[in-house]
Amino acid sequence: MTADLKFADGISRLGTESAFVVLARAQKLAAEGKDIINLGIGQPDFRTPDHIVEAGIKALQDGHHGYTPANGLPALREAVAADLHRRHGATVNPDNVIVVPGGKPSMFFAVLMFGQPGVEIMYPNPGFPIYESVIKYSGATPVPIALEEANGFAFSAETVLSQITDKTRLIIINSPANPTGGVTPKQEIDKLVKGLEHYPHVAILSDEIYSNMLYDGRAHVSLLNYPSIRDRLIMLDGWSKTYAMTGWRLGYAVWPDSMVDAVTRLCINDHSCVNAATQFAGLAALEGPQDAVHDMVRQFDERRQVIVRELNSLPGVRCADAAGAFYAFPNISGTGMTAREAQDRFLEDAGVATIAGTSFGSWGEGFVRFSYANSTENILEAIQRIRAIL
Ligand SMILES: Cc1ncc(COP(=O)(O)O)c(C=O)c1O
Repeated sequence: MTADLKFADGISRLGTESAFVVLARAQKLAAEGKDIINLGIGQPDFRTPDHIVEAGIKALQDGHHGYTPANGLPALREAVAADLHRRHGATVNPDNVIVVPGGKPSMFFAVLMFGQPGVEIMYPNPGFPIYESVIKYSGATPVPIALEEANGFAFSAETVLSQITDKTRLIIINSPANPTGGVTPKQEIDKLVKGLEHYPHVAILSDEIYSNMLYDGRAHVSLLNYPSIRDRLIMLDGWSKTYAMTGWRLGYAVWPDSMVDAVTRLCINDHSCVNAATQFAGLAALEGPQDAVHDMVRQFDERRQVIVRELNSLPGVRCADAAGAFYAFPNISGTGMTAREAQDRFLEDAGVATIAGTSFGSWGEGFVRFSYANSTENILEAIQRIRAIL
């Protein structure tokens, strides 16, 4: 007899991250001999700095082959706390730092901790697609926080606060943001936090994974610096973007006291701990020289200026200032194409991989995400090719 399986309902509600689907398609076209420029993938095109790689190799050679504490090596959690103090002036107890394999597990665990049928979780739209996916998986109702081009894709405190109900359990915010490059100004965050003081039943997940990538003199505003919500704030960050370490799988979140036990149990049930050598590499990243980070961000800034300028020169396209991260999110509605049509034509006809805005939620219609984690030369060539087909 052939298998006749009945999957759990949640599985059919899980979404995906289209960047991986487009990447596979772009790789297939490249394997068939097509010349593809990849502006689709959200990872730095730099190598992990040598001293970090060497620390990982040394850890393996030194025999660090076993389990570590589920929440991460004490030295690594202390280094994270010191880094947060250095970068944001925030005071963090290393016991509240939970190290996990990448940025994603912290968001998954936060949603698992609060999401269930009958409750509401707010998330940015367009936003990182995993938020909506895991909220739906949990059975909770996803409530989008609409991000608008006219507002530089910053979230509006008023919008967020007006959507809170007695069913709201968690609000996810992300600045600097994927896919828009939007950065929410401090006064808006001040306003949000003031408002949240009236809603003590609501937890906040602040995804600050791009906190090292802001441009034009902007400074990152960490939610860690707002004492009135620290007892219900989860602040997510990690090594993937800052240190070009996406494939190592290393991230962390700072959790409030009341959640530390539950999230540690989730880690033990899920992955036991992050592999030890990667944690030693992460320690070297935080404690070693930061020149490579500064150099990478400087290069992103140069490319950002090029891509925003060039996108704005295309017929039917306008691109808002990209304030952070390494994404530009132009409005392509003037070309007459939908986001998906633009994504497909850019790939099939111009050989340029990008991601349709709708892959990041319904509010992304009319937009396409360009990652500028590629050389200036390739960016210029990609725009030239797109110009030719428009
Ligand atoms: C906003 C945001 N949060 C989290 C992540 C996840 O990072 P990681 O690859 O470390 O899981 C990403 C990755 O693209 C992201 O864009």
